[in-house]
Amino acid sequence: MLNFQLSEEQLAVQEAARDFAQSELLPGVIDRDTEARFPTEQIQKMGALGFMGMMVDPNFGGGGMDTISYVIAMEELSKIDASASVSMSVNNSLVCWGLEKYGTEAQKQTYLTKLATGEVLGAFCLSEPEAGSDATSQQTTAVLQGDYYLLNGTKNWITNGSSASIYLVIAQTDPSKGHKGISAFIVEKGMDGFVVGKKEDKLGIRGSDTHSLLFTDVKVPVKNRIGAEGFGFTFAMETLNGGRIGIAAQALGIASGAYELALAYSKERKTFGKPISQHQAIQFKLADMATQIEAARLLVYKSAWLKDQGKEYAQASAMAKLYASEVAMNVTVEAVQVHGGYGYVKEYHVERLMRDAKITQIYEGTSEIQRIVISRGILK
Ligand code: CAA
Repeated sequence: MLNFQLSEEQLAVQEAARDFAQSELLPGVIDRDTEARFPTEQIQKMGALGFMGMMVDPNFGGGGMDTISYVIAMEELSKIDASASVSMSVNNSLVCWGLEKYGTEAQKQTYLTKLATGEVLGAFCLSEPEAGSDATSQQTTAVLQGDYYLLNGTKNWITNGSSASIYLVIAQTDPSKGHKGISAFIVEKGMDGFVVGKKEDKLGIRGSDTHSLLFTDVKVPVKNRIGAEGFGFTFAMETLNGGRIGIAAQALGIASGAYELALAYSKERKTFGKPISQHQAIQFKLADMATQIEAARLLVYKSAWLKDQGKEYAQASAMAKLYASEVAMNVTVEAVQVHGGYGYVKEYHVERLMRDAKITQIYEGTSEIQRIVISRGILK
């Protein structure tokens, strides 16, 4: 059976997310972007409403919802504020998911509950100055010394870099084993030797706090290792398979937000004696935008559905992210064009959405990495 109908619960999530985006994210979104200011208050409210641990078991403070509900919420929030929604995506997909699936009972009790309720924020630390797409080239090391590891290295481009309290850090525990010598650790802000470094001044998602992190002889207890030694690379890859669904949903939201603004503007703005929506040049743009968004939505929902069904979803999530991020870029560029000169100024929001769209083609695996994942899936 093929059913495109959302459930009552999913529709309720959609409405709640839409209302929250309009009432809480929209006010001030332009200023936060201009000033590169993190949406602290808004993220706290998102936690209180259950958006920060949507799929986590309610026994650990989560919402116990399906992945479809999560992508629906991501889409609605991303229409308005992609800086807030990336924090949500990282916390849900890259931090809570892996802790719930692979963490010990004690790790879940100590960390997951606080993360899922939004009491604290998490960050996922894989990328390094010399290891972005080539993620196996980890230079950060964790050397076992009795009942703790000594962690040394630098991480780059870390979302929630300064606002997080709990960091999942990937590091080399045995360089002789390549990617099979990589492990994952839970590091807390405040541990001696852990310093939050430079904040990046970015093109888009300027409200999101992206930092480098520096670790110098940080003592990480053995009990903070996630899974066995050597499991860290698989842990990171599996985590990113799900993370890409969240970013695909974000891209879908950015595209939908820009399209809705362009559609509304086209009905108001008049040229040559009629609304520009009555000119075929604009009608064809709207038709292309709507078609691309619908195709992206089907890929995003399908990847979420596969995950919910316990089926293989790595290739589907890579396809969803690849396509939705390219759609986000195309649609936002066209939305600016529909607005003409007004689209080029901040007040009309679409220029911000265009800048925000670009990162969806880069983080959680560039479009080129998605093509690697997809083609390997096809050819295996
Ligand atoms: N799912 C599960 N396992 C995977 C996997 C996937 N998608 N991709 C690779 N693996 C496994 C492989 O099966 C292999 O395991 P075995 O040796 O046990 O068979 C192991 O990982 C190594 O894989 P490869 O030999 O394919 O390694 P590679 O070096 O050729 O390529 C890569 C790996 C797919 C290119 C990988 O490096 C990659 O995904 N790079 C992109 C990293 C990325 O997405 N970074 C995003 C940073 S996080 C971020 O952006 C968060 C944020 O702040 C918003």
